[in-house]
Amino acid sequence: MIETDISNLWGAISFPDLMAMEERLSAAHKTLSEGTGAGNDFLGWYHLPSGTTEKELDEIQKAANRIRRNSKALVVIGIGGSYLGARAAIEFMNGTMHNDTAPVKIYFAGNHLSTRALNEIVTRLENVDFSINIVSKSGSTMETAVAARMFRWLLNRKYGPDGAKERIYVTTDPEKGKLRAMTREEGYTSFPIPANVGGRYSVFTACGLLPMAVAGIDIRSVMAGARQAEKELDLRSMENPAWLYAGARNLLYENGKKIEMLCSYEPNFEYVGRWWQQLFGESEGKDGKGIFPACAQFTTDLHSMGQMIQQGERNMFETVVRFAPDSRELSIEKDWKNMDDLNYLAGKTVSYVEENAFQGVVTAHVDGGVPVILLKCGAMDARTLGYLLYFFQLSCGISAYTLGVNPFNQPGVEAYKKNMMTNLGR
Ligand code: PA5
Repeated sequence: MIETDISNLWGAISFPDLMAMEERLSAAHKTLSEGTGAGNDFLGWYHLPSGTTEKELDEIQKAANRIRRNSKALVVIGIGGSYLGARAAIEFMNGTMHNDTAPVKIYFAGNHLSTRALNEIVTRLENVDFSINIVSKSGSTMETAVAARMFRWLLNRKYGPDGAKERIYVTTDPEKGKLRAMTREEGYTSFPIPANVGGRYSVFTACGLLPMAVAGIDIRSVMAGARQAEKELDLRSMENPAWLYAGARNLLYENGKKIEMLCSYEPNFEYVGRWWQQLFGESEGKDGKGIFPACAQFTTDLHSMGQMIQQGERNMFETVVRFAPDSRELSIEKDWKNMDDLNYLAGKTVSYVEENAFQGVVTAHVDGGVPVILLKCGAMDARTLGYLLYFFQLSCGISAYTLGVNPFNQPGVEAYKKNMMTNLGR
């Protein structure tokens, strides 16, 4: 379902060098699949697509249906891995303007400490029936905890303690943490994030799936795509698109390309980019190593970042994700006055213009010293989404072990938390 096209890399890496990566990639994949590497107590994601039962999906879907019946809004409260997967999936499937027409509007809170942004959500909940989904693996993340307390109180005031309980859904560790203890005490509906699944690898748990289901996304199709990826990408050869991606990016890094820009031509892809950024950034950026993951939205960012990409320091490469065009084509009309001089495009479609822009950008960037990896993904649908997210998770695990770092810890994230807690007098 995904093809990794490396035909635009040959000026930057050589075929023998890429073939020489085969042994390292094979070892990394083996380390991952056999669970013999650093962080091996966080490999629950690896078989999550095939290991998730129909019963588990049913329970998620039932909760989603209940929310869809009694609420006009759902506030999803979480940060990092407990937030980005759900948002990425909802925008990918339903668009960045999903709330304009959705029967249940989805708001995201707990991913910042902005009073202004919280107030904006609170205002939108006035006179609206709503539920909340608190998502936190540890159950003690400050941003999430502060927002969760606030929205729990809003629910309490609106529905009374018993009514509020019916509208609070918790996704957290199955055993540990303050949020699990609170859930037991209060009797909230809850879903587990398995102990061996880390935040940024949790999109195929209720973390991602419950908000997706509330947004009307067919979670079974998402999981079917992920299962297909789990099976097909187990291939142990350079024909595996995940090996090609992981191998090419490591080789480019070793050849001085320290920044990877993940680019797409679809605004609805933006949050998949942010999810990807966390996945690779937190997994690889340690021990003084790691490709800096950046995202760009083309053609938008060509008008802001284009100059830097074309002629700035030659330290970056691009990974461009391509999808089939929307089946509802838009044509360019003929205009008899032709004041905008566009009649040479009359009868052509917007996607024809986009395809030509894409081709032109690849050529320009490659000529300018920015190697381009192409990920060709097919239709922008639920199955592709599941496949693509698993593809990135697997590629990331293989890539991080190839780089020689533990993909599953994030010791550096603690530094700011420690200072914040000290400042707050904890
Ligand atoms: O990948 C990770 O582990 C992090 O990004 C976490 O998801 C994030 O810090 C939120 O943590 P928690 O789910 O414990 O609130």
